[in-house]
Amino acid sequence: MGSVWDDVKAVLVVVYHVLYYWLEAIVLAFVPTSVMAKDIAGQTVLITGAGSGIGRLLALEFATHNCRLALWDVNSSGNQETALLAKGMGATVRTYTVDVSDREQVYSAASKVTSELGHVDILVNNAGIVTGQKFLDCPDSMIDKTMQVNTMAHFWTVKAFLPAMLSRNHGHVVSVASSAGLLGVTGLADYCSSKFGAVGFDESLRFELKALGKDGVHTTVVCPYLISTGMFDGCQVKFPWLLNSLEPEVVSEEIIKAVLRNQEFLILPRLLYIFMALKGLLPVKCVHVLSDYMGASHMMDTFKGRKSS
Ligand SMILES: NC(=O)c1ccc[n+]([C@@H]2O[C@H](COP(=O)([O-])OP(=O)(O)OC[C@H]3O[C@@H](n4cnc5c(N)ncnc54)[C@H](O)[C@@H]3O)[C@@H](O)[C@H]2O)c1
Ligand SMILES: *[C@@H]1O[C@H](CO)[C@@H](O)[C@H](O)[C@H]1NC(C)=O
Repeated sequence: MGSVWDDVKAVLVVVYHVLYYWLEAIVLAFVPTSVMAKDIAGQTVLITGAGSGIGRLLALEFATHNCRLALWDVNSSGNQETALLAKGMGATVRTYTVDVSDREQVYSAASKVTSELGHVDILVNNAGIVTGQKFLDCPDSMIDKTMQVNTMAHFWTVKAFLPAMLSRNHGHVVSVASSAGLLGVTGLADYCSSKFGAVGFDESLRFELKALGKDGVHTTVVCPYLISTGMFDGCQVKFPWLLNSLEPEVVSEEIIKAVLRNQEFLILPRLLYIFMALKGLLPVKCVHVLSDYMGASHMMDTFKGRKSS
């Protein structure tokens, strides 16, 4: 039977570890990435949604780090353009036309990648879509598609590539989610649900890896606010001086830094860390007042998005 002293000891150990890691995080925040970056030269990086926006920029960033690239997109011409740019930088590149909402396509493309490029070291789940309508106006087919692309595709790619990462105790799974995966937004119910799903998947996966003792396999989840890639064209930012839309180049640079540092969580811009804390602390009605003030109730009123889709 455990004595009271054992219980006290257990609590003290927890307190010690919490304080230790807290201090560690504060110290590491001041260490430049160049000092603590892991070496990813020669590694194989798979990026979904590489034919545009953040996916394309990430491909080019990884190319500058001398990585080999497996680029996936449903849009072959966009993907081809990215490949051309990356090849121009001297990278080894393979493109794959994959609709990540189709599990069978994911699995068959995954085995093709492994046979052509070897094991994937860094998997970046970046492909994403948005309906951009009030929930009752969202066509069922778009709700299905949104969940498939923004959440479920992460399941299938991880199922395909994680086993080899585990057996080598080496790898990194990056999930490009969104601040809409942390905070609900009017007019984005299906999108928010899918991004909350991606965030929850990442967090659970991280716990599972920890429980397995696989300290060589890392995860990073990225939660950016609006980015000017075209995906959310038309959306209004209420107070640009406080919370402005992000430049795609800044976002891709920050993502690479987070990967090189094995950073688990990246929220952009930093102000949103404060929002997250307030959401956890304040009563719901206060959170409504704050999100409304920041424009979350009307942000989607002027949404245009990408005209083609
Ligand atoms: N743009 C923003 O404001 C913003 C904000 C936060 C998070 N994000 C997320 O960042 C990621 C990248 O967004 P972006 O702004 O670069 O968008 P984007 O539209 O420029 O690029 C998305 C890419 O994904 C591809 N894609 C879409 N459906 C696919 C499918 N079924 N199979 C394979 N590829 C598919 C598209 O063809 C496109 O090339 C997305 O997950 C998005 O949700 C975007
Ligand atoms: C596919 O990519 C091309 C090249 O970037 C772009 O012009 C086109 O609009 C995209 N098509 C769709 C359906 O998104």
